[in-house]
Amino acid sequence: MASPSRSGVFAAETDQRLEAYAESITFDSRLYQQDIRGSIAHADMLRSVGLITEAEFTQIRSELEVIRGRLDRGELPLRFELEDIHMHVEQALIDATGDVGRKLHTARSRNDQVSTDVRMWIRETLDTIDELLVGLQRAFLSRCDEDFDVILPAYTHLQRAQPVLAPHYWLAYIEKFERDRGRVADCRARVNQSPLGIAAVAGTTLPIDRRQTAAALDFDGITANSLDTSSDRDFVLESSFVLSMIASHLSGWAEEWILWSTVEFDFIAIPQQFCTGSSIMPQKVNPDTLELTRGKSARVMGSLQTLMLLVKNLPLAYNRDLQEDKPPLFDAFDTTRAMLELATPIVAGAKLKRESIAARIEKGYLDATTLMEWMIRKGMPQRTAHHLVGAIVGAAMEKGVPLAELPLETLKELSSEIDESVFEVLGTKNAVAAFCSEGSTAPERVREQIAVWKRRLA
Ligand code: ARG
Repeated sequence: MASPSRSGVFAAETDQRLEAYAESITFDSRLYQQDIRGSIAHADMLRSVGLITEAEFTQIRSELEVIRGRLDRGELPLRFELEDIHMHVEQALIDATGDVGRKLHTARSRNDQVSTDVRMWIRETLDTIDELLVGLQRAFLSRCDEDFDVILPAYTHLQRAQPVLAPHYWLAYIEKFERDRGRVADCRARVNQSPLGIAAVAGTTLPIDRRQTAAALDFDGITANSLDTSSDRDFVLESSFVLSMIASHLSGWAEEWILWSTVEFDFIAIPQQFCTGSSIMPQKVNPDTLELTRGKSARVMGSLQTLMLLVKNLPLAYNRDLQEDKPPLFDAFDTTRAMLELATPIVAGAKLKRESIAARIEKGYLDATTLMEWMIRKGMPQRTAHHLVGAIVGAAMEKGVPLAELPLETLKELSSEIDESVFEVLGTKNAVAAFCSEGSTAPERVREQIAVWKRRLA
């Protein structure tokens, strides 16, 4: 059977190879809920402006509901010659209602229809992603009180840098995912403008009411320019960037915890429900979920690249290339959702290995910068103090001891400014307690931030 999109202008049948090449039903059938909802709103608008009768609308709506039920149950046969979900629904309507169904596509093109469906789909999925982000933030927050007394090394260049409270780490991730939530919200606002009624590219000569369909479909407004709208896939790219940023945050976190779970670090135990064994080495408990999170992030970022390349050379307006936006879009969402769903129980269930962390926390001179700032408070210029503390660290390395175990005489030999009150800032515990600036790991500041997030995530 010929596709209803093939008008009387065609004298030749479609080559079978083109049908298989051009179909999108194998992936866009997942838009059927949005497609049917959009069609009902469109038909309702056609009725209110007098383009179809009340009786025709009632018949179209009830048949579309029947078709939705058939799609729910997987009972609508999918056929390549009908190309996509939009033509499948319309053809099923025509099969059931004849000329009445032939009126549904009045003042509409697949170009505005597909954009409407995808925008509704993205909007719902962004809401799901937002809920998952909040769940993950709550998991990090749930650790903050119990881990409050654990001091961890902060790293720069993956070299030990300064001591921080464990909850300072958890709050760092909460901040990253909060920025992601902000991006989700910004993106959603741009997604949520109705393209319906721009028709193919120039609008329509028929007396439609775009604002009615926009309101019925919970859009915030209507797009302003038909030419722009017909070509626009910014909302697909932008949402895929938002997902890529989330994926990047998750991948960095996964990498960190993979390192932390090694014998070399031995900072954390990943819940065993999320680890796998080896088929040959009996001792192995591998962090595969985290490795897959790191790995799957590449798919999300790859989807963004695919989409960027897809649109970059397209002249206005709709081009069939745009059909290729859906596989990467769907994959990016599915992958990011799965990553978030697994990250949350791992974050909530992992255990810090307190003894192992404490056994090596005084290694690496995490308190050196605090000592330098103590000298600055005594009136020494920063560059002088920086140089001096370097020499003190050198002396401690030679003796193989932490700064707090250097004898006072040795310290005094290196600087006459030093007295025994210096020991009040040496050692990681004292060093952490000495912090005060806003945003720092000072225990008081961290406590304030935990309280802020408990309120915000309540
Ligand atoms: N399946 C197509 C897509 O996703 C629908 C639009 C086809 N439009 C057209 N003028 N051939 O882009």
